[in-house]
Amino acid sequence: MTENLKSEVVILGIETSCDETSAAVLLNGTDLRSHVISSQITTHQKYGGVVPEIASREHSLHFQPVVQQALDEAGLTFGDLSAIAVTYGPGLVGSLLVGVSGAKAMAYGAGVPLIGINHLEAHIYANFLEHRDLEFPLLALLVSGGHSHLILFEAHGQYKVLGRTRDDAAGEALDKVARTLGLAYPGGPQIQRVAQEGDAQAYAFPRAMLEPDSLDFSFSGMKSAVLNTLNSARMRGETLSVPDIAASFQQAVVDVLVRKALMALERTDVKTLLLAGGVAANKLLRETLDQSLSVRGVRLVYPSPIYCTDNGAMIATAGYYHYLEGDFAPWTLNAVPGLNLT
Ligand code: KG4
Ligand code: ZN
Repeated sequence: MTENLKSEVVILGIETSCDETSAAVLLNGTDLRSHVISSQITTHQKYGGVVPEIASREHSLHFQPVVQQALDEAGLTFGDLSAIAVTYGPGLVGSLLVGVSGAKAMAYGAGVPLIGINHLEAHIYANFLEHRDLEFPLLALLVSGGHSHLILFEAHGQYKVLGRTRDDAAGEALDKVARTLGLAYPGGPQIQRVAQEGDAQAYAFPRAMLEPDSLDFSFSGMKSAVLNTLNSARMRGETLSVPDIAASFQQAVVDVLVRKALMALERTDVKTLLLAGGVAANKLLRETLDQSLSVRGVRLVYPSPIYCTDNGAMIATAGYYHYLEGDFAPWTLNAVPGLNLT
């Protein structure tokens, strides 16, 4: 044992569900001793999106060095760990399998329990890493590249999904629009950057609200409206302002997310909103929610941008709470690409 850690809970968190290989060492739920993220973004950028086969190969190459670096930076060895937590879904099957099989082997070898983590749950748990004072019930707006959910979070491990996207996720729609505008992958941060120079009122893109009482989302039609505007202009030989389109679409997505979040808060009377997922890094979304919630006496909590996109620290944080419950995975744990929150 490297330090006297016998009475501490030391979790190694591992994330490989998409295009980031990441590992983190976390002490007692909030003391992050190391955090390593190896991103494949530059590899996938030339294809305009994540290529699953390449992603799994990259994870295989980087998995072991990333874990070793996380342990080294924390000044610890496998013998110091209380448990190893790993994402087992949702995500790309090949990518998930690298993490799950690697974590199983390491946990078995180290003689410590294995914890299987739902990636969606971990995005929400990223908030617990930096905010120790969160009290249930909480409402979470989880917006990533693959999911858009409004979730009532009643206690650790107890969720009720109040609304979800019926088609594209918010991040997916931003990525697709960005790609059509000729912007690099991932599109969300590019849309945010380019939108700074644009006029958000320039185009009146639709805001899909669905049925009046629905907390579900639908971003596919909103995305198609932008693509149709672009195609029609191109056919007429007109050039459109990329910053104006980016700013107007970003505004439309944020408007819908904020309006649905406000509806959910009113309906549940919950006083804290957690933002989570890659799109939670969006500045306009944070600022708009901040303004709308402060006048309603609702607290807005969000992770630092580095903990919004995929990372091992959020896996370790979720792992800590599972550890406290003694919620360990069997050695037969498998990747579940379509795993959801029920
Ligand atoms: O959570 P995440 O890293 O991966 C998934 O689990 O999907 O989310 C990635 C998504 C991408 O669609 C990316 O474009 C979006 O998050 N994103 C952003 C920003 N940063 C990342 N969207 C809007 N504004 C940002 N600043
Ligand atoms: Zn994610």
